[in-house]
Amino acid sequence: MGIYLNNAATSWPKPAEVAEAMSKFLLQGGANLARGANSERDLETLNFVLDCRFKLAEFFNGYEDQDPRYITFCANITEALNIVLRGYSDYIAQRRKAVPGMKVLTSSMEHNAVMRPLRFLEQHGVILKVLPCEPDGFLKPEVLERELKFNKYDLMVMSHASNVSGTVQDIERIAEICKLNKLNLVLDTAQTAGVLKLDVKKLNLAALCFTGHKGLMGPQGTGGVVWRPDFAAQVTPIISGGTGSFSHLEYQPEDLPDKFESGTPNLPGIAGLNAALTWLNKVGIDNIKNREHELGEYFLNKIKNFKNLKLSGKQDMTGRLAVFSINFDNYDNGVLADELSRLGFETRPGLHCSPSAHKTLNTFPAGSLRVSLGYFNNFNEIDKFIEALNKILGADN
Ligand SMILES: Cc1ncc(COP(=O)(O)O)c(C=O)c1O
Repeated sequence: MGIYLNNAATSWPKPAEVAEAMSKFLLQGGANLARGANSERDLETLNFVLDCRFKLAEFFNGYEDQDPRYITFCANITEALNIVLRGYSDYIAQRRKAVPGMKVLTSSMEHNAVMRPLRFLEQHGVILKVLPCEPDGFLKPEVLERELKFNKYDLMVMSHASNVSGTVQDIERIAEICKLNKLNLVLDTAQTAGVLKLDVKKLNLAALCFTGHKGLMGPQGTGGVVWRPDFAAQVTPIISGGTGSFSHLEYQPEDLPDKFESGTPNLPGIAGLNAALTWLNKVGIDNIKNREHELGEYFLNKIKNFKNLKLSGKQDMTGRLAVFSINFDNYDNGVLADELSRLGFETRPGLHCSPSAHKTLNTFPAGSLRVSLGYFNNFNEIDKFIEALNKILGADN
């Protein structure tokens, strides 16, 4: 077994309880959600899905006393962001009955899960403004403040932390500015959910989008939205169909969670995510954050010795995650990743689905070698990685 240093792509390994819960559902449960009678198996499914909603509402401190109805399950954060952005844009377009419709702000550090839906909407009449970030990936809150002095927007969407450089944004200050300007803030928490504490109410988020398979330690194919009720009421569902409820209606129900959850959900995935949340609550998010911080400090200390290495983003662990983008002079990051994988180290080279972020960090088009640490990594693995780099690069680095 190799050494896994690609946790920003998906966390690995998962807690054993995740696979156990999924296997139990498939082997012993297996009933669909709200599409049976009240058999024991039907109720089991209903129970763990509801339990998972409750846990997510508590985990993110959801609205209306952590009401589980304001949690929507999706296949991943990409789907969650599309549901929010396309659905809200449709609402604005209907209300204004005109093009251009929605006016939206984002940052230059976004993943394509944000950029591509926005560029698609822009091609259909939405006005998009991309706020420039600093060369270390940080969005200065003053840049947003200044923009809002002269222009009015309907929505701001941005990531809490970069999947390329690990740069963490000052989301508290940004949320304050958005609230003051009555601007809906939608947060991409792909890299931070399960690693940093998130509180939707405190940040007054219109929607928090999450993916289940990274820091939340769940299986692939899970994710969702935590909604602010007034915002959810405005968003048009972009997918409609059977919900196992209101079966007399040929129109999509307005009630949550049904409004945004048509079709059979990923029940084995939700069973796994539910078990992952139990594990996260047991370990404690502060312990996870501290562990990743201490691993990050150790990694940074070790890579200082390479004279030809360039690290993107923040140069110490203040304001960053243990997600590191590095480059060596005169060594292609793709070739390096290949050589590392031959020695048993899993990393990710290239552009990480984030061309705009790499442009901001001055690593476009070559990209970088991304090393992303997780809770289950250890110091010994970092030592071995450094040894491997020395072996590949030779004494001159
Ligand atoms: C910041 C960010 N946003 C969105 C995504 C998309 O996640 P998913 O593939 O789970 O939808 C990722 C995944 O790498 C990410 O890092």
